[in-house]
Order: sequence, then C-alpha cells, then structure tokens
Amino acid sequence: AQLFAPERPNSQGFDLNHAPTLARIEAARTPFRAASWRAAPLLAGPAAPETAAPVTNPADAADHPGTVAAASAADVATALAAARPWQAPPSERAAALNRAADLYEEHFGEIFAILAREAGKSLPDSVAELREAVDFLRYYAANIPAGDPAGVFTCISPWNFPLAIFTGQIAAALATGNAVLAKPAEQTPLIAHFAVTLLHEAGVPASALQLLPGDGRVGAALTADARVKGVAFTGSTETALKIRASMAEHMEPGTPLIAETGGLNAMIVDSTALPEQAVQAVVESAFQSAGQRCSALRCLYLQEDIAEDVLRMLTGAMDALSLGNPWLHATDVGPVIDAEAQGTIRAHIDIARHEGRVLKELPAPQGGTFVAPTLIRIDGIADLEREIFGPVLHVARFKSGELDRVIDAINATGYGLTFGLQTRIDDRVQHVTERVHAGNIYVNRNQIGAIVGSQPFGGEGLSGTGPKAGGPNYMPRFCAPDRQAAES
Ligand code: NAD
Ligand code: ALA
Repeated sequence: AQLFAPERPNSQGFDLNHAPTLARIEAARTPFRAASWRAAPLLAGPAAPETAAPVTNPADAADHPGTVAAASAADVATALAAARPWQAPPSERAAALNRAADLYEEHFGEIFAILAREAGKSLPDSVAELREAVDFLRYYAANIPAGDPAGVFTCISPWNFPLAIFTGQIAAALATGNAVLAKPAEQTPLIAHFAVTLLHEAGVPASALQLLPGDGRVGAALTADARVKGVAFTGSTETALKIRASMAEHMEPGTPLIAETGGLNAMIVDSTALPEQAVQAVVESAFQSAGQRCSALRCLYLQEDIAEDVLRMLTGAMDALSLGNPWLHATDVGPVIDAEAQGTIRAHIDIARHEGRVLKELPAPQGGTFVAPTLIRIDGIADLEREIFGPVLHVARFKSGELDRVIDAINATGYGLTFGLQTRIDDRVQHVTERVHAGNIYVNRNQIGAIVGSQPFGGEGLSGTGPKAGGPNYMPRFCAPDRQAAES
C-alpha cells in the first residue's frame, strides 16, 4: 500500500558535461580538499573512551582525510540498551527522511570530497552515489507500508557504496519505525558518520539511529543478540553465511535476514550484436568504479565469429581509459579500496600472466592502491572460483549452437545477481532471459547502475535473499507482521 506521494521524482543529480555545473561542484568541494573528518560511535547513551586511528586515502597514502574511533564492546552494549523504535507517526517519519534527502543534496560538495578521499570515488561515481542515496530516502519515505516495526534492526553495509547502500538500509528500517544500529564498513566510517549527523539533524531521534563504526567484530556482536529483531546486510556471500549462522544460534526463529551479496556476473554478446554498443557496455560494466560493484561484469562471452573484432575494439577502448586520482575530472578509473584488495586482485592477475592468459593490461599509477584494468582469457565461467572484486574482466568464447551450454554454465555458478545480453534477435532475448537465473537482467545496454524505484535491485541464489532494494517488496520485510507470518 502506498500511503504517501507515490508520484515521487528521482534526484536530478548533476550534469557533468555542463561547465557551469562543474564550476559549482568545484567551488563546493574545494574547501574540503585537505579537510579532516572524525568518525566515532554515535550513541543514545554514554560512549566509552575512544582511541582514534587514521583513515587513509586509497589514491594517496600520504593523505589522511580523518580519524575513526571504533565502537567497543561496551558501546555495543550501550547501543542495544538505549535503542528505541521510532514512535512518530508514518507521516512524520517520512517528513524527516525527506528533510534528510534535502540536507544530503545541500551538502554535495562535502559529500563528494569525502567520497573521493575516503572511498576513492571518481566524480561521476560520487554523483551517482549521492543520487542513489537521496532516491532511497525519498522512495522509502513515499512508500511506507502499513504495519508495526519489527523493533531493533541491525544494518551492516559494505564500503563500495558507502553512502547509498548505508543510507538505503537505514532509510527502509527507519521509515517502518524501527530502531537502527548502523554498522558501516571499516574502510568508510567518515561518510557514514557524516550521513548519520545529517539524519539526526533532519529529526531522526538519537535512540532510533545509532552508529557503531568498527570492523567485522562489531558486526558480529550486533548479529548475536536476541534483542535484535532483524538484520539488513550487504556485503560478501561469505560474511552473509556467517551472519545467518550467528542469527540461528542467538536470535528468535524467523528473525528476518535481508542479505544482498556478491555475484559472478556474465554478459553474452552474439554475432548479431552492435559491436560499438557492446564495447561501450562492456567497458562501463567491467571498469567503472574500478570494477568494485557487485553488479559489475566479470565474465564476457563472445560468439566466435565476432570475437576478434570485439576484442580489438575493446582493447582500444581500454587504452582510452584514464587511471588516477579520483579527485581529477579526467579520471575514469580510481584506486581499489585498500592494499589488501590490491594484493588479492594482483595475485589473481599474476597467476593468469604466468599461465599466458592476460590479453591486455594497462599501466597502473603509483602512490595509491591502484590496479590497472586487465583482460584475462578463460575457457568459461566455471574457471572462476570466486568473485574478483576489481577492474578485471574475463573473456570466453562460444560457437553457434552453444548458447544453452553457456547459459547452463552461468547458472551453475550458483550466483544470480546481474546478467547482460547483446543481440539483435528478438526471439533470443526471450529465450535467454527466460533461462538465465539473475535478479537484474539488462539487454543491449550496460549492466550496472540500477535506478531506485524503476529497477529494484537484488539477486538470487548465492547473490542474496531478496526482496530487492528500491522496490515495493522491500519495506514490508522490515515490519513485524511479516516476521510473524514467517514464524507461523
Ligand atoms: P564484507 O562482507 O567483507 O563486509 C561487509 C560488512 O560486513 C562490513 O561492514 C564488515 O565489517 C561486516 N562484517 C564482516 N564480518 C562480519 C561478521 N562476521 N559479522 C557481521 N558483520 C561482518 O564485504 P565488503 O568487502 O565490504 O563488500 C564487498 C562485497 O559486497 C562484494 O562481495 C560485493 O559483491 C558485495 N556487495 C553486494 C551488493 C548487492 O547489492 N548485492 C552491493 C554492494 C556490495
Ligand atoms: N545498485 C548498484 C548497481 O546497480 C549495485 O550497480
């Protein structure tokens, strides 16, 4: 049931091809080029003494955009005891979330600066991230379902959408009247702290929204307590499985876990596809955000007849990518999030290089945790043992008549997040999209950047539990009746 303003426009964002708009962004974010922020627990009770550690810019090891004090076990205990569901009527909750959306938009300069310096986000990625966060706030505010809050909800988010996903989980839980214990990723506490400050300023009570920065241990403590009546998690499949086991041990049966996890996403390009369109879609899907999107393309299947031509165009398009500091307008591909991620991805590339399977590798800049966009030849998606979360694209070929074998191989991974198809045969669109198991399927376009309200986002199998975020079925899962139904 849609109670409030179902006619809700999406955020307009910023037109980065418009010089006066770019100048406005520069004027707004430049004061924060060397600023320092602080992240710490934001509790509705007394916080324990803090020890702060520096936060490092992934593009520049010498730049420290701030400090973070992690939540202690005492802070977790305080937050659990102080959490109170948000008693205000739905219209007041919606008004506060809409005010928060306005505040996010007003503070775009500071937000873009934190996203660049803490998360390595390029300017186009930062614009998209702010838009998505604002869209989540307004969409959930406009679509509050009837029903009681579940109670206390733990929201655990990843670093790759440190504002959008962090905000989306919280907004859905708050819109439905829950108390939220928010645990951001350890790599991105500064933007989370800034966002919670704005949500409080917009009128969300301190007892309804508390922030607990820290690593997986804080998340583990927040998913092992029977006072928690629901968990929203976005991150790796591995962590989701640990949370599920902990909840089964410590929480009431039927406590909802809404988990959005990883993917081994494929695209099939057949011999009728438009090569220019396919190459643009591939470059965006595989390398935008330095490949650090759960939706990103990991395995490209090219039909044999056009493979050489597409690969030639693709390697040419890769040469045109600009790698470097995400603060600069010219940068297409920024750093990966930290040295650990860089080491994991480089080790994967090293093995492929040793086996003679690297088809293309760009030079990587120095001074930060950069990984150059890389193309690796494989026989098929079954060769990929796990998600490689960076700018690495694997390419396989298939022959005419092998399409169903390719679809079977994609489905056999057990993941099911995004899938892309490039073809000009209508019957093939129908045939393939009916058979592929994936939450979000895109035809003749890129396979990233789902739009809140228009393209609800989420996967199946190892990629998530559903319901999809930014869609009509999401918020009911944060309400008590759904929980009771699950228990009956
Ligand atoms: P991660 O699983 O390492 O961490 C995610 C969050 O879980 C962090 O806040 C972390 O501190 C916390 N955590 C770690 N161990 C925990 C534990 N035992 N108990 C509770 N919480 C714990 O993932 P990441 O590296 O931050 O993010 C990248 C992953 O997220 C990728 O696999 C990506 O595909 C996935 N992702 C999925 C979606 C989606 O919508 N499906 C969106 C973005 C990212
Ligand atoms: N919602 C993000 C995308 O579609 C993950 O790319």
